[in-house]
Amino acid sequence: MAVMGWGIMGAGLIAQEMARAIALCSETELRGVGSQSLKRAQDWVQKFPDVDALSYNELLNRKDIQAVYVATTHNFHKDCVLAALKAGKHVVVEKPFCVNQKEAREMAELARQSHLFLMEALWVRFLPSHQKLKSILASGVIGEIHQVSAVFGKFVEECYRPRLIDPSLAGGATLDLFCYPLSIISHLLDALPLRVVSDCRKSKTGVDEISNAILRYPSGVLAQVSASYDLRMESRMMFYGTLGHIECPEAPFGKTFIIHKHDGTNHVISQESLTVDDGSVGFLHQLQEAVRCIQSGLMESPIIPVAESVALMGVMDGMRREWGLLYPFEKASDLE
Ligand SMILES: NC(=O)c1ccc[n+]([C@@H]2O[C@H](COP(=O)([O-])OP(=O)(O)OC[C@H]3O[C@@H](n4cnc5c(N)ncnc54)[C@H](OP(=O)(O)O)[C@@H]3O)[C@@H](O)[C@H]2O)c1
Repeated sequence: MAVMGWGIMGAGLIAQEMARAIALCSETELRGVGSQSLKRAQDWVQKFPDVDALSYNELLNRKDIQAVYVATTHNFHKDCVLAALKAGKHVVVEKPFCVNQKEAREMAELARQSHLFLMEALWVRFLPSHQKLKSILASGVIGEIHQVSAVFGKFVEECYRPRLIDPSLAGGATLDLFCYPLSIISHLLDALPLRVVSDCRKSKTGVDEISNAILRYPSGVLAQVSASYDLRMESRMMFYGTLGHIECPEAPFGKTFIIHKHDGTNHVISQESLTVDDGSVGFLHQLQEAVRCIQSGLMESPIIPVAESVALMGVMDGMRREWGLLYPFEKASDLE
């Protein structure tokens, strides 16, 4: 099979991580990076000398590029995705899928009409460790799951903060961090939340610096989720079942799970720790899945169907609606 040419829109930080994955994969080659600033693209390719520094238009007109990874700040995701689809490219877009569900629907509709592949790069879903956790939970080893708790927080250094605190770049903890536990829990439970109550603490710039929600799933599972870019928190997830609990330290990026079993009361039976090797470049798994799907003629990945990304954007819209958090480029009707 011919090598698949890739391009990246957004010559920023996370784009470098995907570039490393593309270089490691024998079926892909990174051919160009597109930026709104030629200087930014030229600086970026210093680290990747075989890659061309381009404008978005130049990148999208390249015949040797079949797939595009969108790695701009969230506020530009929709426009980049639509432009790439219109240019006939398959698209993988960084998390969050976009800014709100209205945008998500537009992206999904164009991908469907164009018969092109579209996938949200929520990279954790593709990791072997995550797949293993999913199968352990489904095995019933801790009985019926009734409660999940997830905390994901870190104090982000000043140099990485600009995009997180800037409302015009769709900053805030929900779209940047909360989206991980939200997406991961939905994937692990194979369900979307039915009901969500939430609250946030706003930053001086008016975005959510701490985001909190309680989510109820159709099976009755309750999940309590907190995220922040402003507080060092103990990032971890816990799954509580009728016969034990599973502890995931360092979640959502951890590779180790501790399975605590009890007899249905407080009597502990066993404790077992399990570590899964995800390899040295975590993004490789999402890339390989995208390549597999595109080569098979699929328009989406079963690991993260487009409809699920669209639905989860709606959950985050609901939270922001409760808090009155509209970005400067949004209208109130965008969150309906
Ligand atoms: N999967 C992960 O682990 C992970 C980690 C971090 C971030 N992300 C996601 O990746 C995306 C990019 O994050 P990043 O940390 O890589 O961002 P970044 O380096 O700050 O910026 C990425 C690109 O966004 C555009 N941009 C940034 N600030 C801008 C501004 N003030 N005005 C105009 N354009 C601006 C530029 O695109 P051009 O070069 O095209 O002009 C820039 O190269 C976000 O959606 C984020 O959620 C994912």
